[in-house]
Amino acid sequence: MREIYLDYNASTPIDPAVTDAMRPLLQSTFGNPSSTHWAGTPAKAALDSARGEVAGLLGCDPDEVVFTSGGSEANNLALKGVFFALRDKGNHIVTSAIEHPATITTCKFLERLGAEVTYLPVDHYGRVNPDHVCGAITPKTILISIMHANNEVGTIEPIAEISRIARRHGVLLHTDAAQSVGKIATNVNALGVDLLSMAGHKFYAPKGVGALYVRRGTPLEPLIHGADHESGRRAGTESALLAVALGAACKLARDLAPMERVRELRDDFWRALQHHFEHRVVLNGHPEHRLPNTLNVAFPRNVGADILARLDGVAASTGSACHSGRVELSPVLRAMGIAPEVGMGAIRFSLGRSTTRAEIDRVVEQLIELHSTEPLSKAEPRRSRRADPSGVRPRRGRTRGRHRLSSHLP
Ligand SMILES: Cc1ncc(COP(=O)(O)O)c(C=O)c1O
Repeated sequence: MREIYLDYNASTPIDPAVTDAMRPLLQSTFGNPSSTHWAGTPAKAALDSARGEVAGLLGCDPDEVVFTSGGSEANNLALKGVFFALRDKGNHIVTSAIEHPATITTCKFLERLGAEVTYLPVDHYGRVNPDHVCGAITPKTILISIMHANNEVGTIEPIAEISRIARRHGVLLHTDAAQSVGKIATNVNALGVDLLSMAGHKFYAPKGVGALYVRRGTPLEPLIHGADHESGRRAGTESALLAVALGAACKLARDLAPMERVRELRDDFWRALQHHFEHRVVLNGHPEHRLPNTLNVAFPRNVGADILARLDGVAASTGSACHSGRVELSPVLRAMGIAPEVGMGAIRFSLGRSTTRAEIDRVVEQLIELHSTEPLSKAEPRRSRRADPSGVRPRRGRTRGRHRLSSHLP
């Protein structure tokens, strides 16, 4: 079995250049960046330089970058931080129905504290309509949080347009750019955002590090109180090691040229699937406004996890989840209004810098082979005895332990 990794939206390997940048901090630079003696100063210098790299990628000033433990913390800091800082001014937050759980569950938590949250619908491609954002704003609105690109289908949201609306109404705008950093341009001024979240492990840095961009002057209550690390926005001795890793990954991410090769491969992958499967395969997500590496396809009237389980050595994700023996659509596909019998068969292939044409060819061959032994897209969905909205049940025993089934895709 040869392993093929097509789950780069879930996580990426650490780039060798990132490992090289981390080495001195693993081996010798151990001091506390806040110490002013010989051991602390190199750590502080490494931290400052890393902050500069993050700022360079985002087009902001270094002091507008707050290091965090990843995308989830960055989203939590943005949403809770603004809510706690502005709760006297208003309690209304506008977000979308297809955000990552790091945003949705944070909003749910804030609702318990008195926030009012509008979860905007999306169209069939997963796009938020800026007019809906405009229509949702009330005198109590303090924050709009719309993701830059969706993790599951790759649809890119019209953030610059939403920003103009936010500006007009004097409302802060946050975007979760965990999936877009390193894949498309993420200049904070071009996007017009006040806050932007990034997650290192989505673009070749290790897990456990990320950052929140905070435009100068944006009111933000810290979540972790303590000493004045990160200019009082996140207490705790900084990990220069992880910051340096993020900085090195941001330096690499400035060059988006490799993503054009990835886009070509992804498009060829889709063309090959269309050629071989014709109406038996459909694309989920926006045909153009989509991350260059993401291909979410559905084989209607099949179960995505079943197909994945039969693909030898292929790591990818499915948009359906198995609960108590029944298959459910992911919240993202549901919000997009994808028909259950279509969404059941969704598979997210996400390509990365190391993906090769030979790997894509092998996956296509495997799918063709699989189809020749048991045709994909049978005429009739298998019916569940219980009232199952999908009408499709997973095969027993085949998927367990091989592909993780969860209702959201990381
Ligand atoms: C869009 C999006 N936001 C936030 C996160 C959370 O990032 P992290 O895993 O670094 O906490 C993810 C990761 O799956 C994501 O895809």
